[in-house]
Amino acid sequence: MNILVTGGAGFIGSHTVVALVEAGFEPIIVDDFSNSEKRALSGIERILGRPVKCYEADCNNLETIQNIFRQEQIQGAIHFAAFKAVGESVQNPLKYYENNLVSLITLLKAAHTEGVKNILFSSSATVYGLSEELPATEQTLIPKAMSPYGNTKQISEEILRDVVASGALLRGISLRYFNPIGAHPSAAIGELPLGVPNNLVPYITQTGAGIREKLTVFGGDYDTPDGTCLRDFIHVCDLAEAHVIAMKYLLSLEVDNYYDVFNVGTGVPNSVLEAITAFEEVSGKSLHYEIGARRDGDVPSLYADVSKIKSALGWTAKRSMKEGLADAWRWQQTL
Ligand code: UD1
Repeated sequence: MNILVTGGAGFIGSHTVVALVEAGFEPIIVDDFSNSEKRALSGIERILGRPVKCYEADCNNLETIQNIFRQEQIQGAIHFAAFKAVGESVQNPLKYYENNLVSLITLLKAAHTEGVKNILFSSSATVYGLSEELPATEQTLIPKAMSPYGNTKQISEEILRDVVASGALLRGISLRYFNPIGAHPSAAIGELPLGVPNNLVPYITQTGAGIREKLTVFGGDYDTPDGTCLRDFIHVCDLAEAHVIAMKYLLSLEVDNYYDVFNVGTGVPNSVLEAITAFEEVSGKSLHYEIGARRDGDVPSLYADVSKIKSALGWTAKRSMKEGLADAWRWQQTL
């Protein structure tokens, strides 16, 4: 069964492509490589022992997506293609609103004309913003977004929900990812941040590799056990498997209209300092870091209540933060 994967050459997309093939699906990638690299495709091929079909194309072009849906007899789509840098979205909001919203609207229009009924959307725990309810459940009230990037995730969820509610023959799920880390254990695919990483784990591994001189821990005076922020670090391979399970669920539904949202995390909070210590253990390196000022927009603690995805889809994370850090380090050493 053919599944379209937009952004399939990206970090989470490439791992999901591998998991889809391992589960017996045939993923078809669409990626414009604006924020990903072709080496992801060769990495996927190395893991699977065969290539996966990829269209180098813009997901904002309706005709392109319609043609692929038709030619490839697509049964479902997983929509990863989006920009994701919080700071850049504040500097250039239109770039984010245009790309992230138009690509989803385009996909939904093409799904409508071509009769594709199953859509999985890449959302983010960023939708919980400054909410103080912990762990965050899917019922947690969504506050005003803290960045244009976060707003595109909130609006996209609403678009998908509204289209389903309008009676369109559509079954949709939004997956709210917490903090994805790690890499495929083969080290053939992993995260490829452009320039200086914004996210913690690529910054840690690049510092471990000597590419960055030192890591700055953003804030050591939070009201948390060790004063640094708490996050829910989820291994990218666990996250990839959650997509496969969610797609299987959509395909198994007998109703024509369905929409739901699920947290995808481990439910286990870990601090920034705990991540550093765990990295030092798995890499055998002592990491050069210092405690610096807080970063604007960071929430002190954010971790998931994962009971809904467990009871509805039977999914739970199997891998630990330590395993994620070990895999991320193995990947870093190939770069
Ligand atoms: C961020 C985004 C989130 C996005 C996610 C993608 C914000 C507010 N949120 O989450 O929308 O979906 O990335 O992965 O930007 N840290 C340091 N030093 C660093 C980098 C990070 O101490 O050099 C700390 C941060 O202060 C934070 C934790 O590490 O406490 C995690 O940071 P990061 O990896 O950037 O993820 P989030 O900010 O949680």
